Amino acid sequence: MTGRDNELWLQSWRDHRTDFHQQSPNQLLTRFWPSLELVPESRVFVPLCGKSLDMIWLAKQGHDVIGVELSPIAVRAFFRENRLLPTRRQLGKFTLWQHDRISILCGDYFSLTLEDLGRIDTVYDRAALTALPEDIRKHYVSHLRKIVPVTATVFLLTTEDADETDTDSQAFGVSEEVTALYADDFEVHLSHVESIFEVDPETPNQPAERTEYKVYRLAAKTGSE
Ligand SMILES: C[S@@+](CC[C@H](N)C(=O)[O-])C[C@H]1O[C@@H](n2cnc3c(N)ncnc32)[C@H](O)[C@@H]1O
Repeated sequence: MTGRDNELWLQSWRDHRTDFHQQSPNQLLTRFWPSLELVPESRVFVPLCGKSLDMIWLAKQGHDVIGVELSPIAVRAFFRENRLLPTRRQLGKFTLWQHDRISILCGDYFSLTLEDLGRIDTVYDRAALTALPEDIRKHYVSHLRKIVPVTATVFLLTTEDADETDTDSQAFGVSEEVTALYADDFEVHLSHVESIFEVDPETPNQPAERTEYKVYRLAAKTGSE
């Protein structure tokens, strides 16, 4: 299979519609990543990486970082904006861009194989799972299971809309979607929840809505294949 929205993503990079891009490393990453207690040599996979500065931060921690990104515009911008001069070569269906500790495979995530990625210790997912249409997310997770070793942990950041009328403490817990997608194969640990009231810029006259930023750590259940 291929990503269903590939053409839309390619077009949004051509049109500079990249509001998801953050101008500095993600604060939940820098705050909670150390709790994983990884050795610096750990190899980190960043699916749907865009031109995220989080890759620069991860490489500065000593990690080898490998991202996958559909848009060559994003990959070129990542290296140019960070003043890095990458090498470039064809690797099967992908173009591999590489500079020092950072590699980006330019192509479709759903075409990646275990061999393309090599050893992976940890997956860093910010706005990757959640960038995909809901019905594709289970394919994203089952594909992830195929292309990273069973021992790899997943550090997952999500942004979840909270229902204002819902005072149930469950609202602050592991979301039903994360449970449905991951709990069969992973121990799901919710490390942190940040609840923020935000006005939607598209409806500035509406009351602020609560958004929850969550940090999950997922470790493969022992014995799961
Ligand atoms: C919401 S953005 C998040 C980017 C990055 N994780 C960040 O935090 O800035 C999603 C990215 O995934 C890329 N993308 C979407 N579908 C893809 C696919 N099937 N394979 C590879 N990249 C894909 C898009 O081009 C876009 O750059």
